[in-house]
Amino acid sequence: MDVLVTGGTGRLGQRLVQPLQGAGHTVRLLSRRGTGPGGVRGDLAVGGPDLRQAAAGAEIIVHAASDPQGDPWQVDVAGTRRLVEAVDRERLRHLVYLSIVGVDRIPYGYYRAKFAAEQVLLASRLPVTLLRVTQFHDFIDFLLDSAKRGPVLPVPMGWRVQPVDVGEVAAHVTEVVAMPPSGGVVEFGGPEDLAAADLARAWAGARAPGTHVVATPVPGKLSAAVRDGAAVPSGGARGRRTYAEHLHA
Ligand SMILES: NC(=O)c1ccc[n+]([C@@H]2O[C@H](COP(=O)([O-])OP(=O)(O)OC[C@H]3O[C@@H](n4cnc5c(N)ncnc54)[C@H](OP(=O)(O)O)[C@@H]3O)[C@@H](O)[C@H]2O)c1
Repeated sequence: MDVLVTGGTGRLGQRLVQPLQGAGHTVRLLSRRGTGPGGVRGDLAVGGPDLRQAAAGAEIIVHAASDPQGDPWQVDVAGTRRLVEAVDRERLRHLVYLSIVGVDRIPYGYYRAKFAAEQVLLASRLPVTLLRVTQFHDFIDFLLDSAKRGPVLPVPMGWRVQPVDVGEVAAHVTEVVAMPPSGGVVEFGGPEDLAAADLARAWAGARAPGTHVVATPVPGKLSAAVRDGAAVPSGGARGRRTYAEHLHA
C-alpha cells in the first residue's frame, strides 16, 4: 500500500519508516520541507497543490503532524480539514490519526485543538481510527529537562502518567493501519501508571544526579483532571518497555 505519513520528520514520524516498510508498504513522509528519502512537501497550514498531490496518492494515511508550539488550530484542526478535502475517497483505505489520551477530559488549549481535529475526522465519513497515545519517553525527558531550575526539579503533586516507548508506538501504528478502521477512538499507552514525582526521581537519578525533586501542589481543573487519571489510558493495548528501561538503555 502507498502510505503517506504526515509529520514524517517528527519524533514518531521518523520511527514509522522501518516498521511500515517492513510490513511491505511504500512510505512517503510529508513535511513542510519535504527533504530526505521518501520526503514529500506539503504545508497543512496552507494547503494547495503540494498537499493535494501528496494526499491524493495515498491508500493509507498516518496523520501525525502537529504544531503544539505554534498554531494548533491552524495546523491540527484546519490542516486536518485540508487533508480530508485532499484525499482520494475511492483510493483511501484507512486514515489513522495520532491523538493523545485525555484530549476529551483535560482542559488544555492544545488538547482542545486535538479533540476538535478528531471531530473533523469523525464528521468526514472517511475510514478513520483515532489512536490516542500517552506521552513518549523522550518527550517526558524533554519536559523534565525543561522544568529543571538549577538543582531543583518542581513536579506537579499527584499527577499520574503512563509514558510509552516511541518505537513501540510506531510498531503499534503499523499493526493498526492493517486492521479495519475502528471509526472511533482506541488507546495505547506504556506498561506503568506512574506518579509524575516518581518518574522525575528516576529521570534525575539517571540523567541529572544531585537534582532535588519537589512535588508541588498545582491548583485548577487541568491539574485535577491529571491527578484523577485523565492522562492514563482506560483501555487498549500496552507497550512493554518501562520508563526505567528507557533511562538505562
Ligand atoms: N510527543 C508525544 O509525547 C506525543 C504523545 C501522544 C500523542 N502525540 C501525537 O503524536 C503526533 C506526533 O508527535 P511528535 O512528538 O512525533 O511530533 P513532533 O516531533 O512535534 O513533529 C511534528 C511534525 O509535524 C510536522 N508539521 C508541523 N507543522 C506542519 C505543517 N504546517 N504542515 C505539515 N507538517 C507540519 C513537522 O514537520 P516539519 O516541521 O518538518 O514541517 C513534524 O514532522 C502528534 O499528533 C502528537 O499530538 C505525541
